[in-house]
Amino acid sequence: MPDLSFVATANSVLMVGGRPVFCDVDPETLCIDPDKIEALITERTRAIMPVHLYGHPANMPRILEIARRRGLRVIEDAAEAHGSALGNKRVGTFGDCGTFSFYANKNITTGEGGMVTTNDDALASELRNLRDHAMSPSKRYWHERMGFNFRMTNLQAALGCAQLEQIDNFLAKRRALFNGYANRLLDVEGIRLNRETPGCTNSFWMICLEIKGIDAIKRDRIGTEMRALGVDTRPYFYPMSDMPYLDDANTPVAHRVAAEGLNLPTYLALTEADLDRICNVVRTVVNAH
Ligand SMILES: Cc1ncc(COP(=O)(O)O)c(C=O)c1O
Repeated sequence: MPDLSFVATANSVLMVGGRPVFCDVDPETLCIDPDKIEALITERTRAIMPVHLYGHPANMPRILEIARRRGLRVIEDAAEAHGSALGNKRVGTFGDCGTFSFYANKNITTGEGGMVTTNDDALASELRNLRDHAMSPSKRYWHERMGFNFRMTNLQAALGCAQLEQIDNFLAKRRALFNGYANRLLDVEGIRLNRETPGCTNSFWMICLEIKGIDAIKRDRIGTEMRALGVDTRPYFYPMSDMPYLDDANTPVAHRVAAEGLNLPTYLALTEADLDRICNVVRTVVNAH
């Protein structure tokens, strides 16, 4: 898996008794760097787990080619990427399965919860069974293995259906938000916003601001100064290999971009006037550094 992700990516592997191995990322996409995957594969490797970070699709054609050749499964972490696509194909449909989050800050939400997508009928029915305490489909209250209560409530599902009806509208608004930021910050030197690799559709889950050449201390100072001027930000995720309970990794690109990155306010109620104000603060604080 890529070293740069929300820590749940690693925890999901630990939870099933696996060991997460961290790969460096491509600085353009912020997703797993396909050129660096194969050196990490051993006879114990079971799967490649790309993450479509901040809404940018990972390079799925390359990842699928490596997985096919090396006999590995592909599990896409699409928690942040509802609506992201390569060509006309949406993320979460490339690998053996895709996982989506419906947490409140995601592109569509059910408050809490998520879903798994797969074209594998056997896997789908196994997942349906596991989420319902692995109860035997033919013998009530009989359990051949340990399962879970991972069921979504009907109330949450109703909210999710209503959200899904609006997803095109939500995604268009996110894109407009990104364009609003990009147009206003065009002339600020030394910064980069989200990319969208040709052939890819970014769902722009979070507006990403990278200030080239700074370290995490300076990045945090910039965040504090912006906050004092009324603009809240979040730092990029820390490389997961830096967490005390996870394995170390040699991932210089992930470490560099993690230190340079901040997420700017990203929500659909932002107005043009809000964007003017936020971008003026970004400009003032970045230029002062
Ligand atoms: C990349 C990534 N993977 C997994 C998750 C976990 O999703 P959830 O909180 O819905 O379990 C998140 C966010 O919460 C995420 O950003």
